[in-house]
Amino acid sequence: MSRGDTCITRTMKSYQKLTTPQPAGCQVEEEGAAPMPPARGRMAPCWVGSGLLVAAVLLSTITVWVLRQVSGGWLGPTPPPKCLLVPESHRFDCYPERQVVVTQELCESRGCCFIQSPLPAEGKQGVPWCFYPPDFPSYTLESLNQTALSMVGLLVRREKAYYPRDIEMLRLDVEFETDTRLHIKITDAANPRYEVPLDVPRAMKRAENPIYSLNFSWDPFGVLLRRTATGTVLLNTTVAPLIFADQFLQISTSLPSRFLYGLGEHRGSLLHSLDWNTLTLWARDVAPTESFNLYGAHPFYLLMEEGGDAHGVFLLNSNAMEVALQPAPGLTWRTIGGVLDFYVFLGPDPNMVIQQYQQVIGFPAMPPLWALGFHLCRWGYGSSNGTWQTVRAMRNYQIPQDAQWNDIDYMDGYRDFTFDSQKFASLPSLVEDLHKHGQRYVMILDPGISSTNPHGSYWPFDEGLRRGLFLNTTQGQPLIGKVWPGYTAFADFSNPDTHQWWLENLQHFHAHVPFDGLWIDMNEPSNFMDGSEDGCPPGELDSPPYTPAVLGDSLSSKTVCASAKQKASVHYNLHNLYGLMEAKATASALIQIRGKRPFIISRSTFPSQGRYSGHWLGDNRSQWKDMYYSIPGLLSFSLFGIPLVGADICGFSGSTSEELCTRWMQLGAFYPFARNHNTQNEKAQDPTVFSPAARTAMKDVLLTRYSLLPFLYTLFHHAHLQGDTVARPLFFEFPQDVATLGLDRQFLWGRSLLVTPVLEPGVDSVTGYVPQGTWYDFYTGSSVNSSGEMLKMSAPLEHLNLHIREGSILPTQKPGTTSEETRGNPLRLIVALSSSATAWGDLFWDDGESLDTFERGSYSYLVFNVTQNIFTSTVLHGSTEATNVTIGTLSIFGVQKLPSKVLLNGQEKPFSYLDNQVLTVSDLGISLSQGFSLQWL
Ligand SMILES: *[C@@H]1O[C@H](CO)[C@@H](O)[C@H](O)[C@H]1NC(C)=O
Ligand SMILES: *[C@@H]1O[C@H](CO)[C@@H](O)[C@H](O)[C@H]1NC(C)=O
Ligand SMILES: *[C@@H]1O[C@H](CO)[C@@H](O)[C@H](O)[C@H]1NC(C)=O
Ligand SMILES: *[C@@H]1O[C@H](CO)[C@@H](O)[C@H](O)[C@H]1NC(C)=O
Ligand SMILES: *[C@@H]1O[C@H](CO)[C@@H](O)[C@H](O)[C@H]1NC(C)=O
Ligand SMILES: *[C@@H]1O[C@H](CO)[C@@H](O)[C@H](O)[C@H]1NC(C)=O
Repeated sequence: MSRGDTCITRTMKSYQKLTTPQPAGCQVEEEGAAPMPPARGRMAPCWVGSGLLVAAVLLSTITVWVLRQVSGGWLGPTPPPKCLLVPESHRFDCYPERQVVVTQELCESRGCCFIQSPLPAEGKQGVPWCFYPPDFPSYTLESLNQTALSMVGLLVRREKAYYPRDIEMLRLDVEFETDTRLHIKITDAANPRYEVPLDVPRAMKRAENPIYSLNFSWDPFGVLLRRTATGTVLLNTTVAPLIFADQFLQISTSLPSRFLYGLGEHRGSLLHSLDWNTLTLWARDVAPTESFNLYGAHPFYLLMEEGGDAHGVFLLNSNAMEVALQPAPGLTWRTIGGVLDFYVFLGPDPNMVIQQYQQVIGFPAMPPLWALGFHLCRWGYGSSNGTWQTVRAMRNYQIPQDAQWNDIDYMDGYRDFTFDSQKFASLPSLVEDLHKHGQRYVMILDPGISSTNPHGSYWPFDEGLRRGLFLNTTQGQPLIGKVWPGYTAFADFSNPDTHQWWLENLQHFHAHVPFDGLWIDMNEPSNFMDGSEDGCPPGELDSPPYTPAVLGDSLSSKTVCASAKQKASVHYNLHNLYGLMEAKATASALIQIRGKRPFIISRSTFPSQGRYSGHWLGDNRSQWKDMYYSIPGLLSFSLFGIPLVGADICGFSGSTSEELCTRWMQLGAFYPFARNHNTQNEKAQDPTVFSPAARTAMKDVLLTRYSLLPFLYTLFHHAHLQGDTVARPLFFEFPQDVATLGLDRQFLWGRSLLVTPVLEPGVDSVTGYVPQGTWYDFYTGSSVNSSGEMLKMSAPLEHLNLHIREGSILPTQKPGTTSEETRGNPLRLIVALSSSATAWGDLFWDDGESLDTFERGSYSYLVFNVTQNIFTSTVLHGSTEATNVTIGTLSIFGVQKLPSKVLLNGQEKPFSYLDNQVLTVSDLGISLSQGFSLQWL
């Protein structure tokens, strides 16, 4: 069933247990979390009095236990039968407030069931003690009308729930947007509410053959979504009541499996634990720590169903929210504003889900080629000469480097759009020198604008004030907090006039320091004070009836007041969008200033960010576990449509070791965005400072990266064109192989290059999963046949394991020390034959930096194909940029027997053939603008 009145059925309120497959490898260890009170377990470090609470709860639980032993039964009145009917895994939390230990009285005042459960393990959350009974009042679907494109329903609540300002009548809009995309929106039927100002495409016609079917439960209201082909129930929202109060919106669903990914930004394994795990989404400046809400907010999940199908759910909502996961398996969205605006993507495979998600939020920008080179940065070079010295040392050792960066120490008093005229006097000359060497310059910028300069001495503030471009307090004055320069006002990027002022500031600075890209930091926005210099005013924005489980327990913790006024709305609604809006302003300014593709790396992100910027995973530490966490981190951002992502290579804070840094450079050479970055007052960690052996290992792996630039660039083209991922989890390519579902210590580039880094000290081998099939060693072409198993691979310190999947063709290039140098060198195509001796690959080529080359047709696109011992290169689209670049070498892996001859376009050609079945034909000298064929007999 798909649409029309045939799909409307009435379901019962009665509870039914769902089958719960419990695959291995679903558990997440939360390291370093402190003991918590039960049922709301979360981080405690910032939680005043948590120790006391834990003690109190422990005491009461022990008492309960003793009494139980004595009486042999339940303490106090037996809970009503309807409560006892609800098994633990299906208890949906009716009292998520963490500041209170819920008592029976508090719980029952909400009309909920109270049953104490055993205390969870330290640092974990447990079964909620207060949960909804099956008959807790919810909304009723009163009417449902068909329109040409959609269905419109009316939901009515007859009994109030327990938060203030319940909205009694809701409007339900259902749009069957495409055969694989469903849009369900629930909002106030009478009054408009805040909605995320994101341009999303609207469907022009109703899907004709949707691969899903939708049913409704009328009383209580619920959505039941099935995948038609398998009958799998993807959503069933009748598992708990719908609550829609002005500042508390909650909807729960059952899940068809425990294989759930996404929901960022968080640190942890790629696969989320559903073992009572609450994830909070509220942009926050904090060193990445397990279970904390971090810099960005991505209310999107991907779920793998049994049999390899996948679907995704996006809640288009920018308010503070939490997502509670439980073992039913079930999920609860809990947000404190906006509307419930859901998009469901039906895949059916994980790649397609992510593409469909990006059809809604927008495809990522095509980065300039140099963005894919190696970037070097640290806080505390101390001077432009010191920075320059590092650049020279890198050149001296001929270690590839495309971009040199500076952190905040380049600024004069940490003020944006200034540079220290003493220590960084030679900055303009440094930038000029970088440009002469085909290299680029990137510096940091913060959104906090210094507010305590003598009037007339700092244009950015004076002018921002004059034009009214800062966040205001409720009193209508600029809100003043504190960031690096001291007291600051915060630019209001929701105001289009701010974009113009931002551009003018950047133009002024660029006239002195012709930077090439920008690093926008501190844009949660971060504030060293809570709220402002005067705190925050009382009221329901800064002290809402319910505060999600944010770090610091307050919305204003280390940021500005939620009540702050912005042009588009209150900060309460816009907070999670701050980094997105700044990135948008910055991208537009860069385009106007440079006329080329912008390069921006942002710390705070929101869905659709990929259209404007990449992301780095924030202020990590120089520790092995941080190195591991970077993999699930970057793979999650692949799911979020932000493919240009990486972590600080060798770690930001703390001090790295030569071994850690060598291994990390090897992994980091395969981050889509590869930057080594260090904090101040730590020993230098750029490749030049290590022993010759380590330095050489680092140089070699960077040369390997540079050799793969044509392949990586082509992957970014596909990301830009249709939302393919670049760094890719293994399960995307092998969705039916359940062994891949939890893998996050390895990843793929595209569909065909497997990266297996060493993530621990003191080893000379690494064990990695090799999916079924033939894989070729990237360096030698020797093959490995796997039945889909864990294989031990040799991994001495100078070696990173890279394997090419059978059936693929990778375009590579002789590496230079910059991408500019590399792009003039001859290409080498690596062909990895499948067991049936076929292979396929492609290449996107353009000038590497002009705007919209694909859209304007200024690019070349080549397809490579092997069947029956014939390699063909077909130019599907040509442009002049490709004419002077040649294909020099063809290496064919997996040629079973020594060929008698090789013919290039019918002419005999010398070749070499090695015992490991590698056929190499060199000196081809064929222009990229020409197709050709090569046959071996
Ligand atoms: C559905 O149509 C009926 C009859 O026209 C109308 O009374 C009702 O308000 C409509 N319901 C919605 C949700 O639009
Ligand atoms: C949906 O959930 C309700 C409440 O738990 C349950 O009674 C019903 O059987 C479920 N429906 C399906 C199709 O799973
Ligand atoms: C930087 O180097 C230049 C050229 O060697 C020199 O003239 C200048 O004094 C140096 N600046 C500082 C601040 O050391
Ligand atoms: C903030 O206040 C200034 C005056 O101080 C005013 O010009 C501006 O419009 C205000 N902005 C907002 C978003 O309220
Ligand atoms: C490769 O070329 C063969 C022969 O021209 C063709 O039949 C096949 O479809 C091509 N495969 C791909 C993947 O393009
Ligand atoms: C290719 O090389 C020729 C000869 O060196 C030169 O004249 C021409 O401008 C080059 N074309 C491009 C697109 O770089």
